[in-house]
Amino acid sequence: MAASTFYFLPLLLLLTLSATTTAHNITKILAKHPELSTFNEYLTKTHLAAEINSRQTITVLALDNSAMSNLLSKGFSLATLKNVLSLHVLVDYFGAKKLHQITDGTTLTASMFQSSGEADGTSGYINITDLHGGKVGFAPADSDGLHSFFVKTVLEKPYNISVIQISQVLNSAQAEAPTPEPSKVNLTDVLAAKGCKAFAGLLIATGADTTFQENIDSGLTVFCAGDSAVSAFMPKYKNLTKADKLSVLLYHGVPVYNSMGMLKSSNGVMNTLATDGSNKYDFTVQNDGETVTLKTKVVTAKITGTLVDEDPLVCYKLDKVLLPHELFKAAPVSEPSPAPEADAPADGPDADYSEDDVADQTTKKKKKNAAGKINGGSFIMVVPLCLGIMAFL
Ligand SMILES: *[C@@H]1O[C@H](CO)[C@@H](O)[C@H](O)[C@H]1NC(C)=O
Ligand SMILES: *[C@@H]1O[C@H](CO)[C@@H](O)[C@H](O)[C@H]1NC(C)=O
Ligand SMILES: *[C@@H]1O[C@H](CO)[C@@H](O)[C@H](O)[C@H]1NC(C)=O
Ligand SMILES: *[C@@H]1O[C@H](CO)[C@@H](O)[C@H](O)[C@H]1NC(C)=O
Ligand SMILES: *[C@@H]1O[C@H](CO)[C@@H](O)[C@H](O)[C@H]1NC(C)=O
Repeated sequence: MAASTFYFLPLLLLLTLSATTTAHNITKILAKHPELSTFNEYLTKTHLAAEINSRQTITVLALDNSAMSNLLSKGFSLATLKNVLSLHVLVDYFGAKKLHQITDGTTLTASMFQSSGEADGTSGYINITDLHGGKVGFAPADSDGLHSFFVKTVLEKPYNISVIQISQVLNSAQAEAPTPEPSKVNLTDVLAAKGCKAFAGLLIATGADTTFQENIDSGLTVFCAGDSAVSAFMPKYKNLTKADKLSVLLYHGVPVYNSMGMLKSSNGVMNTLATDGSNKYDFTVQNDGETVTLKTKVVTAKITGTLVDEDPLVCYKLDKVLLPHELFKAAPVSEPSPAPEADAPADGPDADYSEDDVADQTTKKKKKNAAGKINGGSFIMVVPLCLGIMAFL
């Protein structure tokens, strides 16, 4: 009894640690304030909630339902609303005390709109000014005059998260600018221009680009391998049947939008465009601090950069091609990776040809299915229980 308690204590601790991948839960914080419910709803709809939750230090400038209804009456698209609302998330901590102690009474601070890369110049910065009589005014740096004011503190956890209610929407012409229609983006052109030329070429050559393109409007996450990773993979790729080539490429798309914050906070199994019934073609997302990795049982790839993040489309660059275990043999568990620095495993296992015929038969169906919507690409929370047991027993 005592012995088993001894063994399970560290295991329990490990489980707790791996479950706590987010710093806060803004949805839960705001849920206690019905007057902020519309704001809360739109933080979820625009996926900003996950971004907020994944940051260690953050200030949220909340709007009440009447300020939100003014904003919504403008008829903006969800992508534009995301830009506007991201002005209301400051990537620094401002509690009530700090607001009233601003050096020289005025400061410019970066918002999430600035860090999204959508903003030019100073337009993603917020001017906070401590006015006479304890009043604090807010405005985007590119607008004329302070037009929104401190109302009340909703929650303060110094120096992690501060939620403050302000009186009005922060107006910024740039945040309100129309965003391009996502389906008008030519995905392969974008990938080619951002360092995934070889990968984009394979998408076009196999016709996989059509499936990717058709999934953009309903949400799409693309993981593309860089040119050197693709070139290291080519000998193996050339050996695959036409159907399996398509499967490998579709394996690099997930039919939902996943921002970096969402990837970091939702470790688990992810379905792909290649997933079709019993042909799982899934992989596991696991973050190690700031690094997000994708594990296929054959290979572990690292996200090395974000190429595009325009909700509902996001594209990341990987250091390796993702090899599905349905087509490639898994490396022996005990053997450490022989070449961790290589773009693709230099002498990974050979393709499992015995499955080719099966794959051929299912690919036509798979293609059709992938063009539609597959299982919503839902996350399944996976706790690394086995790892824990291996580490501690
Ligand atoms: C945050 O809280 C909401 C409401 O309580 C809950 O539905 C949601 O699952 C939580 N999110 C996370 C990431 O824990
Ligand atoms: C913030 O705005 C006020 C009013 O427009 C202005 O006087 C002040 O200089 C601005 N502060 C900064 C740091 O730009
Ligand atoms: C802020 O976060 C740190 C690290 O997660 C934690 O140790 C600390 O208790 C938090 N502070 C508050 C006031 O919640
Ligand atoms: C994207 O552009 C490439 C050429 O750069 C073209 O082959 C492809 O058909 C285009 N795709 C779409 C969906 O327009
Ligand atoms: C390609 O297939 C051949 C014949 O099955 C095999 O001998 C060769 O090792 C394979 N090459 C690669 C790179 O997998």
